[in-house]
Amino acid sequence: MPWQPACRIVWHISMSKISVMKINSKQITNILIAILCIVFLTACGTPGSSETSQDSSSADGATSDASDQDLIVVGFSQVGAESDWRKENTQSMIKAFSAERGYDLILEDAQQKQSNQITAIRTFIQRDVDYIVLAPVTEEGWDTVLGEAKDAGIPVIIVDRKVATEDEDLFTCWIGSDFELEGKKVCTWLTDFCTKKGIAPDSLNIVDIQGTIGSSAQIGRTKGLVDAAAKNGWNIAGMASGEYTQAKGREVTAGFLGRFPEINVVYCENDNEAFGAIEAIEAAGKKAGSDIAKGEIMVLSFDGVSQEAIEDAREGKISCIGECNPLHGPRVEKIIKNLRQGVQPDKYIYVEEEVFSADQSITAVEVEGNGYPVTIIGQ
Ligand code: AHR
Repeated sequence: MPWQPACRIVWHISMSKISVMKINSKQITNILIAILCIVFLTACGTPGSSETSQDSSSADGATSDASDQDLIVVGFSQVGAESDWRKENTQSMIKAFSAERGYDLILEDAQQKQSNQITAIRTFIQRDVDYIVLAPVTEEGWDTVLGEAKDAGIPVIIVDRKVATEDEDLFTCWIGSDFELEGKKVCTWLTDFCTKKGIAPDSLNIVDIQGTIGSSAQIGRTKGLVDAAAKNGWNIAGMASGEYTQAKGREVTAGFLGRFPEINVVYCENDNEAFGAIEAIEAAGKKAGSDIAKGEIMVLSFDGVSQEAIEDAREGKISCIGECNPLHGPRVEKIIKNLRQGVQPDKYIYVEEEVFSADQSITAVEVEGNGYPVTIIGQ
């Protein structure tokens, strides 16, 4: 029997059924052969057969097929989903690298583990993606795997936190925030606030709820505080990581409040930690607020992404937030578009950020001769 497309075989069968009353044994044999052919061809072409099950699983859960072949394949290794900032950042990437915009985004959530990120990058290399985007959990430990990506000829774009490599040619470029500058802005706001309200610098007893230790965001924000404390004569009573989560932020702040009853400032290295710190302060029977003289505990924070953070600032529970902008999707996409046109990006690209506060007394902060606006969060 000559090969026929499946649809024509189906038609042949239905005609045979119409004349079923007149068929002889040779015709029965032909019908049986046709049925076997249908079963065979259907099995080969059914979605979920062995061939299609090996296809790419994209960020939106769709599987790639032949029509996806023109899409630019981007492997994105994301840190995790520890904070509101991170979730917003992931959404920004998913929107920027949609199939409608010409991309097949392979998104891997590393659940805060560098080993998972290294595995993800190796998988991207095996799959021969067009670009790798890495949001590294910490700065150290990337040389080997980035070397493998370089040997495979796959450009790597680092986003958000930085990597500390021996050879900067191991990645194409980095885009993200100046975390140390964020820390300096918030500490300058605190300095100016104390001056305006007549609070003696040496009366400040601060605890630092740090981010993930070894991440650029933690290194920069901690340094901003440590330098400002040394300069202004502030006392740093304690430092410990809140891992950028609300639960850990609460736990660590509660521990500090128990050990150091004189604490009057909690410097949280992101908003989710600040939510936890406020819970701990209130559970200890104290009030989160900027009136230190009246026994309130001032909470300082970073990000300013979620509605909850803005509400807390509006209510005075968070006194000042250093903005950290998570909307890197379109920025990374622009870099990839430029690369495809042969335009080499700057090695380090910093995004512009400001400061948020409900307190109206400080409308701008000056760091190293540069002025940055403070957006006053109104009622
Ligand atoms: O690296 C950026 C930081 O990581 C954000 O401030 C924090 O919320 C996130 O988890």
